[in-house]
Amino acid sequence: MNRKFLAWGVVVAGAAALWFIAPKSGVVGAEGDKDPVLERTRREVRLLDDIYKTAVVLITKHYVNESSDLSAGQAAKALFAGIKEKGWHDARLVDATGDPLVKANAPQPGFEQEAVKRLKANEPYYDQVIEEDGKKFLRAATPVPVVMEKCVMCHENYRNNKGIIGILHYKLPLVQ
Ligand code: HEC
Repeated sequence: MNRKFLAWGVVVAGAAALWFIAPKSGVVGAEGDKDPVLERTRREVRLLDDIYKTAVVLITKHYVNESSDLSAGQAAKALFAGIKEKGWHDARLVDATGDPLVKANAPQPGFEQEAVKRLKANEPYYDQVIEEDGKKFLRAATPVPVVMEKCVMCHENYRNNKGIIGILHYKLPLVQ
């Protein structure tokens, strides 16, 4: 096999393995685990979560060398805005340290504050089915750990933090 290709494969697999904390089913506030609609929607969350986290780790690893470079946080925000504009879903990178770089990234009262509390207490995943204007959505939260030494370059408060420093908050229509 081509060595360059092999090396790239190792990088991708490594990044995916580092970030892979799979959402588990059977969490509070949902409609029962046997519901196929809910299971399909949770599967979509797991897929999105792996894609986003793998992308952000790869960007940080290969393109971020100094604190003025486009950061993982900014890259994620730009990506989420593009996907929202296309009408797929909402995703938000939320602080879990109590000391965000940008105030707007602090957890909002309600789902986000509850999700931060639970995920910091080592629950691997949290979700809730909600209804808006007669349409059902899943709100889901997954953990963001400090996976690379590089994160500390801009987030001094992540130093020696072995727990989670953020969450990803998704809101997506149920997959019928
Ligand atoms: C080059 C500097 C830089 C690096 C490296 C960096 N970040 Fe950030 N991060 C930022 C900036 C700037 C923001 C604010 C983005 C915004 O809201 O516009 C941010 C925002 C965040 C947030 C939202 C909370 C907050 O503090 O506003 C999280 C969570 C986060 N980053 C996690 C990470 C993780 C995990 C890594 C390592 C993979 C990382 N960051 C690496 C600069 C950086």
